[in-house]
Amino acid sequence: MLYQTTEQHEALRQRVREFAETEIKPIAFQLDQTNGFPAEQIEKFGKMGLMGIPYPKEYGGAGLDVMSYAIAVEELSRVDGGTGVILSAHVSLGTWPIFAFGTEEQKQKYLVPLAKGEKIGAFGLTEENAGSDAGGTETVAVDKGDHYLLNGNKIFITNAPKADIYVVFASTDPTAGTRGISAFIVEKGWDGFTFGDHYDKLGIRSSSTAELIFNNVKVPKENLLGKEGQGFKIAMATLDGGRIGIASQALGIAQGAFESALGYAKERVQFGKPIAFQQAISFKLADMATMLHTSRLLIYSTAELKENHEPYSMEAAMAKQYASDCCQKIVDEALQIYGGSGFLKGMDVERFYRDSKITTIYEGTNEIQRVVIAAHIVGKPPKQKSQRRSRTKTAGATGPRKNIMFNEGSNEEKVAQLVAALEKDGYDFSVGIPIDTPIAEAERVVSVGKGIGPKENMALAEELAKQAGAAIGSSRPVAETLQYVPLERYVGMSGQKFKGNLYIACGISGAGQHLKGIKDASTIVAINNSPNAAIFKNADYGIVGNVKDIMPLLAEALDTGKPKESAPPMVKIKRARPKKQAPDYNFYICNGCGYEYDKELGDEASEIEPGTPFEKLPDEWMCPKCGEGKDEFIKA
Ligand code: CAA
Repeated sequence: MLYQTTEQHEALRQRVREFAETEIKPIAFQLDQTNGFPAEQIEKFGKMGLMGIPYPKEYGGAGLDVMSYAIAVEELSRVDGGTGVILSAHVSLGTWPIFAFGTEEQKQKYLVPLAKGEKIGAFGLTEENAGSDAGGTETVAVDKGDHYLLNGNKIFITNAPKADIYVVFASTDPTAGTRGISAFIVEKGWDGFTFGDHYDKLGIRSSSTAELIFNNVKVPKENLLGKEGQGFKIAMATLDGGRIGIASQALGIAQGAFESALGYAKERVQFGKPIAFQQAISFKLADMATMLHTSRLLIYSTAELKENHEPYSMEAAMAKQYASDCCQKIVDEALQIYGGSGFLKGMDVERFYRDSKITTIYEGTNEIQRVVIAAHIVGKPPKQKSQRRSRTKTAGATGPRKNIMFNEGSNEEKVAQLVAALEKDGYDFSVGIPIDTPIAEAERVVSVGKGIGPKENMALAEELAKQAGAAIGSSRPVAETLQYVPLERYVGMSGQKFKGNLYIACGISGAGQHLKGIKDASTIVAINNSPNAAIFKNADYGIVGNVKDIMPLLAEALDTGKPKESAPPMVKIKRARPKKQAPDYNFYICNGCGYEYDKELGDEASEIEPGTPFEKLPDEWMCPKCGEGKDEFIKA
């Protein structure tokens, strides 16, 4: 087989390389340091025809082939991996589904400005509970006649919030699993569509990445992409093409690192000759060159398959997995060749090293690529019933919660209902702990997120903490970026873990990283002005409202008129369990951990067939979650 790029391909490579060398390379370090987005350069991509490379000229594209697109991403990534993915996510993820599945009206309205580079595109699939299991989408779009009402959150979205047009996946029929997912074209600026913070990432820092938040967003019927229920297939088909882009990004990063290390190895003299001539180094270079060559062949041949409308799903997965795995090895060896110098900030190999890692993770982890490849080789394993069920029944990151919202009446009435519920759960507000109690030892915490606003509002939080008998905590940005509280007071995956009883989250949106720090809280209360904030799904009680209004009312309601007495040693309050709708048969709950035996699912691990009633379970059967015996189950 002879794979050869055409003169046209090489001319394009030259053009993109020149642009990348002169306009991106000089600022790459600064973009990396400042998390800066190369807006000016992206605008120029539009003028150069890069933003619509593989789309027909009649739709504003450059009318080139898929290999040209791969070469462009490769060349940009050769100097800056972040810039490479901006183009890749725009062309393959944000634009391609509209090109492939859009109506003529949708193409005229959205594809044309995207292909011309007048607008930037993005793709909203990933969610907290739908990463590798992309079919677990919990964002919903409810048919309201002339429009759909979109609610939910998407995380880790490349090009957000810079992008103007988003292809978003939401469930229109939560009972139908992947066949109930639909795709929509959503515009930035629509009412109820907002963004979370830009993520502070290890690498590809010049690309922007943020959360999408949909709160009762009205999506006109004509913005349904494809048919209702076709969304998952649209997403999968889009990702097949996207994986060629990420493979090219990995190839470009690896190529940049290789060239840099090669140049250094030829200059650096040790033991009387350039290290490139030391066998230890020349063998590294030989292996790196071989991996680059094989990656390139795999990527270009996959691009050819796509161009020729041949099946290419498996090959795209192979290319993405192989090129990104090779990229990891190449950047590692490149930095090793540089030795201590490569470990310093400002060296391009240091940046390539960090930029490379994401290529094994996004657009499907390399483990998922192997699932796809294997499914093409051995076929798909039979679906387990329990897997299907989990799509529509996922608890939030903090586990099952009561999710009781106090929506009725005035703010005072909502607060009164909240206090009554907390007192009913056993909280005694005549006692308290000092507000500087370490989070890990605190029985109660009042924690603030960025929704707290200016620093003077911290006085409201401190007053609330005092009246709630709680310590003060915060989300990470409040401690790290705003510096309202010391660093040891932020709660989350990388911070403190709260294992006490009552956690009152004020103005915290509920990013996954924060929720992981509070999953052991007995009771979570959320106060936030966005009804769609993820924190509500993870809370026992919630009030939608401005924290500046609610916090003083809550402090007042918890004020017993006397100084708080010292709280006795903490007794862990039993975690509240959500009320369930009674099914038309008896169900049984484990007294130890709250696991609910579901007759419809059975218990696959213990070879209990779906449909087996609890009464028919063998006596030796044990709770699959905590190991309690069958007799520890309570009939409900
Ligand atoms: N093209 C078209 N249809 C496809 C398809 C494809 N490549 N792959 C699967 N389908 C169809 C199947 O035929 C099936 O159809 P039916 O319902 O008619 O039978 C349906 O989709 C469901 O398929 P599966 O049963 O195989 O689906 P699954 O739930 O088992 O999931 C998976 C398969 C491969 C694991 C998939 O979930 C997946 O790819 N996960 C990874 C998600 C991913 O890549 N996320 C990346 C996010 S975007 C990103 O990262 C961008 C960025 O930042 C730059």
